[in-house]
Amino acid sequence: MTNFNITPNRRKFDTDIKWNLYKKDILPMWVADMDFPAPKPILDALHKQLDHGVLGYEWANGTQLPEVVANRMERLYKWKVQPEAVLTVTGIVSGYSVAVRAFCSPKKGVAIQTPVYNEFHEVKNNIGIPQIDIPFIKQVKGNIMTYEIDWDLFEKRVKKAGIFLLCNPHNPLGIIFSRKELTRMAEICIKHNVLIVSDEIHSELLLDGNKFTPMAKLSREIEQHVITLIAPSKTFNVAGLFCGFAIIPNKELRDRYNNELNHLRLHVASPGLHASRAAFSGKCDPWLAELNRYLTGNRDFLVDYVTKYMPNVRTTIPEATYLGWLDFTQTKIDGSPFEFFKEKAKVAVSEGKIFGKEGAGHVRINFGTSRALLKEGLSRIKQAMDQL
Ligand SMILES: Cc1ncc(COP(=O)(O)O)c(C=O)c1O
Repeated sequence: MTNFNITPNRRKFDTDIKWNLYKKDILPMWVADMDFPAPKPILDALHKQLDHGVLGYEWANGTQLPEVVANRMERLYKWKVQPEAVLTVTGIVSGYSVAVRAFCSPKKGVAIQTPVYNEFHEVKNNIGIPQIDIPFIKQVKGNIMTYEIDWDLFEKRVKKAGIFLLCNPHNPLGIIFSRKELTRMAEICIKHNVLIVSDEIHSELLLDGNKFTPMAKLSREIEQHVITLIAPSKTFNVAGLFCGFAIIPNKELRDRYNNELNHLRLHVASPGLHASRAAFSGKCDPWLAELNRYLTGNRDFLVDYVTKYMPNVRTTIPEATYLGWLDFTQTKIDGSPFEFFKEKAKVAVSEGKIFGKEGAGHVRINFGTSRALLKEGLSRIKQAMDQL
């Protein structure tokens, strides 16, 4: 049994971004990594590598990683992937940046559903392409927010793109798209010859025992139009190791993608390879089941706390991820709630605006921490609001 109530002191290393970016009196609830140590099989694999002492060049094929990844897809989703369809990438942001370089042009840009992960908004700068925003429709019932796809707008906008960059499960909204929604998105993209790049980095952080379907698993036809990006980084909290995978069953797409990858010389450092093999081996799955139960408890705590103690604040009920999304537009906070909480509550959340203009007046809060720290953060936020 892992005790997720205990979190190590992350300030021990001054290279730790989450806990060192802001002053020491500020509780960090921003960047998307968790405060928990990685599961033991991963740490054992890394210790083994270090104990050997030789840290020379290594390659993914030598670690049988493509087979390990393919086996995991089959085990989790009954999705049969050929190992040669699996390419190793230096993380997911570089993974989709490579796709954009290979498949977009100044005329055919990248379509994204906003508000969405801030790095999605940077991708256009990689080679100077247009960004096409497709905002969700926001619905509010009581203090609970849900977001839905505006299908007419989706088709109208996505057809202008070279790539539709999907975030599923969605950061920061916590949505797991249904098979029906995924099929409809895929059919529209295929109709207009738009390549789908599906960022599924959060796909194993499932709350309430929810199930996940990879976009490419929907059908063999859809699979031919999808580049799937996955990684152990969020699930097993090894984001600093920068190792991910692009699954590209369509050979023509894969060759084009691989060509760009080779030009960029993006090599994964060897600890990422060792850790990923252990992470996806199945040995960490009992840890993951416990983690997801703990995170579900944290999500419930967050939603209950906001509902009970923060009048006029709205929240989503995330189905996946450890990211909450709160709307302060109906409160007395004047200006950016992110700045307000940093100043008055000594809590650093993520500024809503970085996820798109619809995020103004909202913040993203990271609940991938101990219940005690989550409680502390929320009570600081509440107290700051009570002063208004
Ligand atoms: C949707 C999404 N994609 C990608 C990343 C980052 O991936 P990487 O660090 O592997 O580049 C994150 C991190 O928060 C994310 O939420």
